[in-house]
Amino acid sequence: MTDRRDSYYLKAKRENFRSRAVYKLKEIEDKFRIVRDGDFVLEVGASPGGWTQYLTSIEGVRVVSVDIAPHDPVENSVSIRRDIFSADIFELISEAAGLIGGGKFNAVLSDAMSNTSGNHSRDHASSYLICDRVMTISMEFLSPGGNVLVKHFQGDMTKDLIDKWSPKFRGHKVTTPKASRSGSREIYIIFFNLMSKPL
Ligand SMILES: C[S@@+](CC[C@H](N)C(=O)[O-])C[C@H]1O[C@@H](n2cnc3c(N)ncnc32)[C@H](O)[C@@H]1O
Repeated sequence: MTDRRDSYYLKAKRENFRSRAVYKLKEIEDKFRIVRDGDFVLEVGASPGGWTQYLTSIEGVRVVSVDIAPHDPVENSVSIRRDIFSADIFELISEAAGLIGGGKFNAVLSDAMSNTSGNHSRDHASSYLICDRVMTISMEFLSPGGNVLVKHFQGDMTKDLIDKWSPKFRGHKVTTPKASRSGSREIYIIFFNLMSKPL
């Protein structure tokens, strides 16, 4: 049987995408349509830029991306090289949004994850903190009606994470794309339609 990792990896090479992760986003997009034509998108954990390539291929979409790691520029996007936990991240995102002609964003997408240690509790805790930070950033920058997608490594605090943030949105879904590596605890949580005032 062909190893799925190899097939997605080779497909990405063939189709000139910088990462196999792009097929996870494609699958999620085909199913849930998180991003629409003309949207301003904030992307967290963007390097090497596969998701950015895909997002900017959608008609009129402009992206501000954030990552600790550098990556080659992608047209119609502005990248910020910074840890999302740094104190000046709000200011930097605000400045970058201005550069692409926006203020608020229609969607926030995060594929961010620190290097996994193999220790599930540690990886889950680290993922919880990243997701929680992405949600805090989203509360500052997401327009009412906007959507958030976050990658998350499941564990005992996953329910707390969803319970904490879902009341601010009209709905949420959890999904695992086929392109996620088999046996991994990776899920993607989508929060749909930010309410202007929580119920
Ligand atoms: C799986 S990669 C993203 C791949 C990307 N979606 C693509 O398609 O090319 C995860 C990224 O999250 C970034 N990351 C992890 N923790 C971060 C943090 N605290 N702040 C900013 N970026 C972070 C890593 O540097 C890494 O580049």
